[in-house]
Amino acid sequence: MNPPPLATREAVREQRFNTVWTRELDRVFADVAPYYDRANHVASLGLWNWLLRGFLGTIALRPGLRILDVCAGTNAVGIGLLEREPGLAVRAIDRSAEMQNVGRRRAEAKDMHIESTIGDVHELPFPDNQFDIVTLQWASRHLRVRRVFSEIHRVLKPGGWFYHCDMLRPASRSVETVYHAYLRCCLAFTGFLFRSGPVALNCKKYFVEAVGMFYSADELSTVLRELGYVDVGARTHLAGMIGYHRAAKPVNPLQ
Ligand SMILES: C[S@@+](CC[C@H](N)C(=O)[O-])C[C@H]1O[C@@H](n2cnc3c(N)ncnc32)[C@H](O)[C@@H]1O
Repeated sequence: MNPPPLATREAVREQRFNTVWTRELDRVFADVAPYYDRANHVASLGLWNWLLRGFLGTIALRPGLRILDVCAGTNAVGIGLLEREPGLAVRAIDRSAEMQNVGRRRAEAKDMHIESTIGDVHELPFPDNQFDIVTLQWASRHLRVRRVFSEIHRVLKPGGWFYHCDMLRPASRSVETVYHAYLRCCLAFTGFLFRSGPVALNCKKYFVEAVGMFYSADELSTVLRELGYVDVGARTHLAGMIGYHRAAKPVNPLQ
């Protein structure tokens, strides 16, 4: 699968995936919510927690920081951050009430509170300059990236940090071929093991295509810079299949 050039990537992704994004994903995540965490442990061959710890380890914390976890799902990021620093104020936003219900129960079981908002992250329902840190893990492939990253920039305080983690397009074509074959097998296996419903099963092809049309680590860094972020840094794992990015909102807008 040859992705279109960076300049037209968003328009092509939107054209190709708009129906899935607007009509099907909510039903997919309603279906997978009860087994989402277990399925990811299986699909990642047990690397799920290692990857999460690696991502959280890139985030600099101190008590009192206001954090927004975008596309929070079952609150893996919020819970992990509160385990490291209980003095944070963590808010989650996600369009799936089912995923957030699982996330709320997970947080409550650990005596944690994560304020939840159910809504679409393309228009964040928060005023400008609110958060010290915004996180986004495993979801950008399903989003109009430039729009959401701009919204994140808007709600970050000047000097605040955006931390991002997702599956990326590896630089090597042979790694990409193996990666896509692995994803296809994984989706078939977890779909069977966890008895996924028809909507989730029908989206198997989309999940592989969404990675194929997504950004490489370097491309994502370019997008972040184009949107006005500074001090952009990226670290990749597993031959470029997974990437952690961090980027700051400038203290001085002319920076
Ligand atoms: C693969 S899950 C990732 C969840 C979580 N961040 C994690 O690390 O496990 C993707 C999440 O993105 C959410 N999502 C997808 N599109 C969204 C949108 N437009 N607005 C809000 N949430 C969205 C889904 O509901 C789902 O919970």
